[in-house]
Amino acid sequence: MPENIVFSAIKPTNLPTIGNYIGAIKNMVAMQETYNCLYSVADLHCITVNMEPAKLRSNTLDMFSLYVACGIDTEKSILFVQSHVSAHAELTWILNCFTQFGEAKRMTQFKEKSKKNPDNINVGLFDYPVLMAADILLYGASLVPVGKDQKQHVELARTIAERFNNRYTPTFEVPEPVLPTKGAAKIGSLADPTAKMGKTDENASGTVFILDTPDEIMRKFKRAVTDSGHEIISHPDKPGISNLINIYCAFTSKSVADTEKEFEGRDYAYFKEKVGEAVIESLLPIQKRYKEIRADKRLLDELMINGAQKADRIARRTLDKVYRKIGFCRV
Ligand code: TYM
Repeated sequence: MPENIVFSAIKPTNLPTIGNYIGAIKNMVAMQETYNCLYSVADLHCITVNMEPAKLRSNTLDMFSLYVACGIDTEKSILFVQSHVSAHAELTWILNCFTQFGEAKRMTQFKEKSKKNPDNINVGLFDYPVLMAADILLYGASLVPVGKDQKQHVELARTIAERFNNRYTPTFEVPEPVLPTKGAAKIGSLADPTAKMGKTDENASGTVFILDTPDEIMRKFKRAVTDSGHEIISHPDKPGISNLINIYCAFTSKSVADTEKEFEGRDYAYFKEKVGEAVIESLLPIQKRYKEIRADKRLLDELMINGAQKADRIARRTLDKVYRKIGFCRV
């Protein structure tokens, strides 16, 4: 199996944030130059929470369009919607039988989400990381660009792959998570920088969405929670300013040291405005491309069908191999 395959996905539970952009999408775009990449809109993963059907449908199209607008090139990479390739659900069942209950129960995200949503701790939420493992293992991906919160899930995918390979013969590539540089792996909320900036946070003022208007973006940055003191330096005692520095660096490609030097002697209000400006400037061309793609239903359908066909071909081959190894009767 070739070693240079990359897989990653984003859940269309809501519009993506600059956390998704910095933590995952930027790496996904960059990796296209060197590797064979497959990227997916993980709609199957969305229904572990109650989602309005119309919202799920439109979010899926939004996310697909945004991938392209952010620079995912459908000529170079395979871009598809997860539910268009039924092998994802099929392999999940198989992998369920190679995952220990205790392993799934230890997943931090399962524990956090169960606590947050005690009325709907469904089996799908529990099984979520196994579906993720199926996503990755179907394509023989060795590299998985993700933010820090998904690292544990990719590690579980490794364990499952190794277990299957040891039980039968080497079948799955054992994947590795690829995290962005330290500060970019977990972008904090602007309202509470010690918490992850999430797509579905209750406090929307702490989340900057890729499609927010320039006014909204500036307003959110101006209101960003900062720390005591006045120096613009990255330090564990200054989670607010450190988070803003990480965002600034990600959007300007400057280093932390250069940023600290650039804003020496400046106050927090000035810096917050400059971070807002840098984000707005980078997002404007993405937003413009997004609008064009999202409005072109024919193009979107064509791209989705194309991506699904390419992904399905690879996934079917893997699934067939797995079925044979297990001993399912093939005709
Ligand atoms: P999702 O949709 O929650 O997030 C998509 C990607 O964005 C990263 N991310 C962040 N990175 C830095 N700072 C943040 N505040 C931040 N918020 C999110 C996530 O780590 C992720 O890389 N289960 C996955 C989607 C998925 C997947 C897969 C990923 C489904 N199948 C297979 C990799 C491989 C998820 O919910 O990501």
